[in-house]
Amino acid sequence: MWGGRFAEGPAAVMREINASIPFDKRLWEQDIRASKAHVAMLGAQGIVSAEDAQTISDGLDKVAAEYAAHGVPVDLALEDIHMATEARLAELIGPTAGRLHTARSRNDQVATDFRLWVRDAMDAVDAGLEALQKALVIRADAHADDVMPGFTHLQSAQPVTLGHHLMAWYEMIRRDRARFAEARTRLNECPLGAAALAGTGFPIDRHATANALGFDKPTDNSLDSVSDRDFALDYLMAASQCALHLSRMSEEIVIWASQPFGFVALPDQWSTGSSIMPQKRNPDAVELIRGHAGRITGCLNALMMTMKGLPLAYSKDMQDDKPPVFEAHDLLALSIAAMTGMTESVTFRTDRMRALAESGFATATDLADWLVREAGLPFREAHHVTGRAVKHAEDLKCALSDIPLADLQAIHPAITASVYSVLTVDASVASRISHGGTAPAQVRTRIAAAKAVLGVA
Ligand code: ARG
Repeated sequence: MWGGRFAEGPAAVMREINASIPFDKRLWEQDIRASKAHVAMLGAQGIVSAEDAQTISDGLDKVAAEYAAHGVPVDLALEDIHMATEARLAELIGPTAGRLHTARSRNDQVATDFRLWVRDAMDAVDAGLEALQKALVIRADAHADDVMPGFTHLQSAQPVTLGHHLMAWYEMIRRDRARFAEARTRLNECPLGAAALAGTGFPIDRHATANALGFDKPTDNSLDSVSDRDFALDYLMAASQCALHLSRMSEEIVIWASQPFGFVALPDQWSTGSSIMPQKRNPDAVELIRGHAGRITGCLNALMMTMKGLPLAYSKDMQDDKPPVFEAHDLLALSIAAMTGMTESVTFRTDRMRALAESGFATATDLADWLVREAGLPFREAHHVTGRAVKHAEDLKCALSDIPLADLQAIHPAITASVYSVLTVDASVASRISHGGTAPAQVRTRIAAAKAVLGVA
């Protein structure tokens, strides 16, 4: 398609390094969509005849039907999806096919196709994340009262509820969805019509093509239009952040599934056995989600490095933009689906969670707070007194709530029997009624708000 000034064809290795069809065939649907919008506009503007525009558009439908039925044939000589589609169109409708590429270049074509693909990917991710949020909210609702240890430094810190913990994950995913939505807004400008780099002298209507393809407006600078890959980087940044969240959730499930914790029983469908140790049940799904986060952030790094030194406008390096985005998207979509399945079907061992919450002096802060509130001690002194009570419980090998009143009064005379009402884990969580706190009443408020947003009954 560009051989006019060349006497010889490319070397075999040149052909191989130059071709993107092995991977950019994934853009075929977007390529056809954009070409149909372009040729409809060419017809409407009288740049090609109405009859030719119709012939081309019908021919593109035929090519699309072939791709859908048999896949895109990979011929390295045709370089990329754009040339492959045009070549097939020419086979089907003859020389009229050559009018499709009027007032357009592969530079604005690929920028448009790829934006459309990434936009579809964002929409798919958003749907997946919404399903994950629904799963989280439903499980959180069922466990809004169930006490578990809350950790800092992975040390028992204060009791929280399982519902509160699951809603913390919900918040991470809420931010991820917002990040993808913001990226989508920024992406949604149409580069088609920027042509090779400088625009075109043909009387095209860029607003019409932008509109036909669901973009908010055409891009405003032709040089930037063909060189910009921010939308792909935005996708990868949002994907990376989301993958980090999924990885952290996975890490918690790995810990929870370990025998010393025993907080969850993994469902058969989401775990595997060991070929040598019959007792094992391994959390492979979440381990792989955790692993995939490494590869997804690697994809972000790959594209950042590809883009970092490129001058305006188009450079062939940019052909390498697609594999990392495709790879990251496939890994992320799979990770979201697996995390959703895991969330829906994991068994929470709430008895075990409660037992551990009760064993780690997790209500020590409640004792200190009681000393401040009821006995008027400065918090620092209350902290010190509580430390002595914890030491005493350790010596007696009992819970704080099991220390005899006389012993507590020996530690500080202001302590009365009413202190026992704050030393249970249930009293502790019920007291944390500040906005966003772990009190079941607070958690239920957050769950109700989330349900309203998600349209969950
Ligand atoms: N296959 C190319 C890509 O993915 C299409 C653009 C090629 N443009 C060019 N002037 N060689 O970037």
